[in-house]
Amino acid sequence: MGEWPGPRSRELQEERDRYLPRGMGSTMPVFAASGNGATLIDVDGDTYIDFATGISVMNVGHSHPRVVEAIREQAARLVHSGGPVMLPEGYLRLARRLCEITPGTFAKKALLVNSGAEAVENAIKIVRQATGRPAVISFHNSFHGRTLMAMTLTGKVAPYRQNFGPYAPEVYQVPYPYEYRRPRKASAGPASKRSASSSEPPCRRTGWPASSSSRCRVRAASSSLRRISCPACARSAPSTRSH
Ligand SMILES: Cc1ncc(COP(=O)(O)O)c(C=O)c1O
Repeated sequence: MGEWPGPRSRELQEERDRYLPRGMGSTMPVFAASGNGATLIDVDGDTYIDFATGISVMNVGHSHPRVVEAIREQAARLVHSGGPVMLPEGYLRLARRLCEITPGTFAKKALLVNSGAEAVENAIKIVRQATGRPAVISFHNSFHGRTLMAMTLTGKVAPYRQNFGPYAPEVYQVPYPYEYRRPRKASAGPASKRSASSSEPPCRRTGWPASSSSRCRVRAASSSLRRISCPACARSAPSTRSH
């Protein structure tokens, strides 16, 4: 590898600064030209092992011959038909396959959407419709996407939420019960001991304390929720409003 970034990447960086918004950042100051298996090649011919594309969802690697052939064959036959008017056959085939290969022997249905954020938005709509309960719980430091509801659910404030309010209502955030990421001021020791005020053990699925209604920190008045129930065992748990 010679000088890095190479000359072509430096030229493209100038174009990027001119034509793309600053909000869309890239860690690397180089530009991808092609990919092969686990590697990416930039516009100056430098090769990289790709640990990151699609946040690890490129499981079959770049330009796998069978994937390339399937894309070529589909593009020649049909690129798009609007699902709300005439559903493409491939949508149904993929949904069926996903239902078949995901764990669980119960009946399942699949919805295919454009992005993770759209999946999150739809998940919230579905649970609200199914339960009639509008409030949603998410965890501190989480990431759920960049659309309004997904951003509101996102627990990591900088850079995802800062200065982007007002946020969607009825979102409550709680600390994640993870021993190795305890809040800075919390003492060491099991999370259950730090937060539980009763001798009853914490919920085995969520780690939420057995009884903590006296510590409930929902600050603003909420039409629908003052105490939050643990989704696994319906115990109440401490919470904070997300905004
Ligand atoms: C856990 C999680 N949820 C949601 C998203 C949002 O996905 P997208 O960027 O496709 O909208 C991501 C993306 O990284 C994610 O990691």
